[in-house]
Amino acid sequence: MLTWWQERVVYQIYPRSFQDTNGDGIGDLQGVIMHLDKLRDLGIGVIWLSPVYPSPNVDYGYDISDYKGIHTDFGTMADMDELLGEAAERDIKIVMDLVINHTSDQHPWFQKSRDKDNPHRDYYIWRPGKGNKPPNNWSGFFGGGTWQYDERSGEYYLHLFAKNQPDLNYHHPQVLEEVKEIMRFWLDKGVAGFRCDVINILYKSSLVDGRRSLILTGNEHYLSQEGTHEILRTLRRAVLDHYDCFTVGETVFVTPKTALDLMAPERQELDMIFSFEHMETDQYIVKWFKRKFQVGRFAASISKWQNALPWNANYLENHDQPRSVSRFGNDGVFWEKSAKLLCMMLLTLRGTPFIYQGQEIGMTNFDFTSMDDLQDVESHNIYAIAKGLRFPARLRWRIIKATSRDNARTPMQWDTTPYGGFSPVQPWLGVNDNYKRINMEAQLGDAHSIRNMYKTMIALRAASPVLKAGSFETLQIAKDCFAYRRSLEGESMVVLLNFSTQEKRMEFAGGTLVLSNYDRQAYDGKLRPYEAVILKEF
Ligand code: NOJ
Repeated sequence: MLTWWQERVVYQIYPRSFQDTNGDGIGDLQGVIMHLDKLRDLGIGVIWLSPVYPSPNVDYGYDISDYKGIHTDFGTMADMDELLGEAAERDIKIVMDLVINHTSDQHPWFQKSRDKDNPHRDYYIWRPGKGNKPPNNWSGFFGGGTWQYDERSGEYYLHLFAKNQPDLNYHHPQVLEEVKEIMRFWLDKGVAGFRCDVINILYKSSLVDGRRSLILTGNEHYLSQEGTHEILRTLRRAVLDHYDCFTVGETVFVTPKTALDLMAPERQELDMIFSFEHMETDQYIVKWFKRKFQVGRFAASISKWQNALPWNANYLENHDQPRSVSRFGNDGVFWEKSAKLLCMMLLTLRGTPFIYQGQEIGMTNFDFTSMDDLQDVESHNIYAIAKGLRFPARLRWRIIKATSRDNARTPMQWDTTPYGGFSPVQPWLGVNDNYKRINMEAQLGDAHSIRNMYKTMIALRAASPVLKAGSFETLQIAKDCFAYRRSLEGESMVVLLNFSTQEKRMEFAGGTLVLSNYDRQAYDGKLRPYEAVILKEF
């Protein structure tokens, strides 16, 4: 028996870029309400809202200054209540982003904590420097160091992300009490769970120097520590078990083993996790060093995780990742075919599918022309570091263009009106020039659009016990092809995927064609360029 969060398909909204209704160039909650019918029609059962809380926006909402409020950019708490009500009427559940590794430096807790004698001092991690050096040698997620000196206190505070995102101190029991209260506040309002931001790094076991590493020096002191497992079990028992809800954890640097420790049902910690490995197969060590996308590596990683975990949170995009069709598909000649292929793969894997706004119409990476076009703090930090390291300007630019999180954050392309119908005024981030060709309105009116392939696939999954609950078996991983079987109680379906611009032979014993992204009646052993085929086995 599957739970509702295993049955349903999740749609991630990055509210800032979804729909502006009040003409300030920034998306808002009324904009989400405006499009609920479209999401219902698509077959979406859950919306994950990226942060809508008050925030100075250094990291666009992932630096929270009030966990129980709504940012004025997005509207009011009355809008949020309206959204919950309107979504419930359409049988759509809302999941909030829970960002509890760090707060904004403008959060009142942090402001108080800057005073050494304040009871809030220990909400954060303060340490004296070593001479005029920071307390340890750790390196941060956005590049650069992890300690910021504060004149007022005469000490440094720890920040694993931007310096305006101080890490909370989970050695102080009061912090967890605050988190419980925040979670209850939202659950009592009717939200159906949380996407838990970088949740496996909460607990820092020690603050001693880390082993030098190209990937985050110091991580052995905070990645998936026993203290974090205990926190997750406590939150489950004390809060989550009392509501009909689920959690999906964003978990960094997990292996199947450490992932299982965080999500295996008997552990009673998280319900699902987002792993990163398949998204890292087109990079060397860190995401800023891209290598050519190769299906073999990608498919091997997907297969590995499909087989390792009892249930996966499957995704190809989110607000931190470049667009999937530009990255794993082909955003030129085979734009439509490859976007549909990725859709067919995502919806036929075992697990809960997560679709990111715009993915359902095949939105592509943005054609930025200068650093001034970019808002993302991470891109600016990395650009500055690369400049400091004397990387040539062309290389710096290539790195940023291929990896910037702003690729996924450009406004939703709704129609052919100025700014893609996102806003009547110049939006906070540029609209992709291709909005006249790639937009929702055009695709809603075209039975063969990418958007309608998403709708078809969501319906196919919903109607198919095999696709929802069946086991996963890898059949073939070749240079350009990936094939797998899903089976349940004597029934099985086979999925054949050709990730190349060439025709590929892929023999298959026998079955009836369920769906292809090409117009064909039967499968003849040859996959056309970027063809995806779903067959029901005899
Ligand atoms: C992961 C979020 O997805 C990302 O957008 C954010 O910058 C970091 N966590 C820090 O909160």
